[in-house]
Amino acid sequence: MTMEQTLSPFVLDVSDLSVEIDGREGRVIRPARRLSFRVGRGRVVGVIGESGCGKSMTALSILRLLPTAARIAGGQVLFDGVDLLKKTPRQMREIRGRSIGMVLQDPSVSLDPLFTIGDQIDEALAVHGKMPAAERRARAIELLKAVGIPSPADRLEQYPHELSGGMLQRVVAAIAIAWNPALLIADEPTTALDPTIQVQVLDLLRDLRDTLGVSIMIITHDFGVAAYICDDIMVMYAGEVVETGPVRQIFDKPGHPYTRALMQSSSVPEGDGRLPTIDGQPPDLGALPRGCAFAPRCVLATEQCRQEAPPMYALSDIHSAACWRAGEVTP
Ligand SMILES: Nc1ncnc2c1ncn2[C@@H]1O[C@H](COP(=O)(O)OP(=O)(O)O)[C@@H](O)[C@H]1O
Ligand SMILES: [Mg+2]
Repeated sequence: MTMEQTLSPFVLDVSDLSVEIDGREGRVIRPARRLSFRVGRGRVVGVIGESGCGKSMTALSILRLLPTAARIAGGQVLFDGVDLLKKTPRQMREIRGRSIGMVLQDPSVSLDPLFTIGDQIDEALAVHGKMPAAERRARAIELLKAVGIPSPADRLEQYPHELSGGMLQRVVAAIAIAWNPALLIADEPTTALDPTIQVQVLDLLRDLRDTLGVSIMIITHDFGVAAYICDDIMVMYAGEVVETGPVRQIFDKPGHPYTRALMQSSSVPEGDGRLPTIDGQPPDLGALPRGCAFAPRCVLATEQCRQEAPPMYALSDIHSAACWRAGEVTP
């Protein structure tokens, strides 16, 4: 059997992942509860949901970079068939440097203001291998070209403050792809950028997928971003996966009332030009209601919804939603 035949069609396969944070006064906050989702090889998968629903905690648990107050309370994170939750911190550093690239919201957090762009790319290249310095320099230039940075040789000598936000995010992407990772995790990579630059960075990510075959998990609170770049999406609400499927199927026929509300709130501006928001507030992650967590805000909620948490309901073989009334949601 060749290597190809043994590869799963999913680069990432997360099941029952739960995260707990010790809050004030002995409270336990649950930003991720029994999450299950997969990232197909060569796909762009969006994780979408309102601020505070647990998107970043989910990404950080996959990367094993949770803040100290938070811990993984259970589950499995299979990356290329191997459970990342069983890896040592040292093995994880190696995996993060080589096999899983990261692009975070604010590029200035990922880059050190005291070192040139060239130094920082060089460090990423030097840390995992024995590439000679001249070869690393050539590779750094090649990486900057790959992420669409003009005059790459000149950029190597510059410091982060000399580059715009969009250019810095390209540098972060260059470092993320330095070792041809199988997976790129991007947490709100365009949120801090101007709208025109946002589109350029999204186009870059898609180009990287097309040219390098890297799978991408992109976190966003903006359905427009997801619709623009993603093949598949997983919608999160209050620490749970509430809908998964191909973005087109979900766009045409959302299975969860929350997904529909999120789509409406990000696509059609109201008369005054502002986007409508969803009425009500997400629940406190330390004191969740007993039934469906969305029921208090849901126009379709029934007594059953308030009493019993819904299971995942299959709308097609690749599209599911956690809603008692999934089949009745109108686009
Ligand atoms: N450092 C922290 N300490 C305590 N609670 C936190 C911390 N970071 C996040 N949380 C809790 O975890 C929840 C999920 O956070 P996060 O994953 O950052 O949300 P998102 O990325 O979807 O905006 C928050 O609503 C908050 O209650
Ligand atoms: Mg976040």
